[in-house]
Amino acid sequence: MDRTKIIAHRGSKGTHPENTLEAFREAVRVGSDGIELDIHLSLDNELIVIHDESVERTTNGKGNVQNLTLTELKQLDAGSWYSPEFSHCCIPTLQEVFNLLEEVDYQGLVNIELKTDNYSYPGIVEKVWAFVTEKDWSFSVEYSSFNYETLVQLKEVDPTCKIALLFENNGENVTSLSPTIPVRMWHPKLSWFKGIRNSEIPVRIWTVNKNEDIQYCLQKQVAGIITDYPERALHIRNKWQY
Ligand code: G3P
Ligand code: MG
Repeated sequence: MDRTKIIAHRGSKGTHPENTLEAFREAVRVGSDGIELDIHLSLDNELIVIHDESVERTTNGKGNVQNLTLTELKQLDAGSWYSPEFSHCCIPTLQEVFNLLEEVDYQGLVNIELKTDNYSYPGIVEKVWAFVTEKDWSFSVEYSSFNYETLVQLKEVDPTCKIALLFENNGENVTSLSPTIPVRMWHPKLSWFKGIRNSEIPVRIWTVNKNEDIQYCLQKQVAGIITDYPERALHIRNKWQY
């Protein structure tokens, strides 16, 4: 049996400011099998690693990523909202995150979530795919999105790319669609998984933080857990699964 993969949600989000180089460095340090991150496009078409469309929750700036240039985004403090000790953190580009992971010879999985849920970011699919495939990285890359059309576009650009279908709630709309393209994984919410539903496709569950939920997912031998606390999940996983 393959061990359940422990995937750091937005890096080690529970202990570091999400989607920053510090959060990704910590995820590597604790031994995460995978790292999940979110991407948007800036006004000047750079691939930006941040969760929200707006910079307001996680930085000292105002406005939406798509209306700000890379230079403007780089001036923002992306750590103080979390804790003053992280005031030096800034919003990273996808290039900077990949450079960091390559420098430390990270051998795990990187899950790029394309945040095309509210804005379509024309060209983002081609741009991210071209960037990822421009060289052989030390780690492997898979893509996910709540936007099914984005996954279809990825498969059109590269039929070999690995995609995972994200869904919330009961997932009935997306699970009925998924046979139309070869989806490698489902990434459902924990509440969906805890229902009586069965999955035909392997699942990686999010966001699994509590000890009892981690243990529940391990007992069910899920393919992966996406968690804010990878160190905690790894500790439990390594006792339960050898
Ligand atoms: O990939 C799992 C999770 O990241 C999906 O939700 O909102 O945290 O990006 P969200
Ligand atoms: Mg995400």
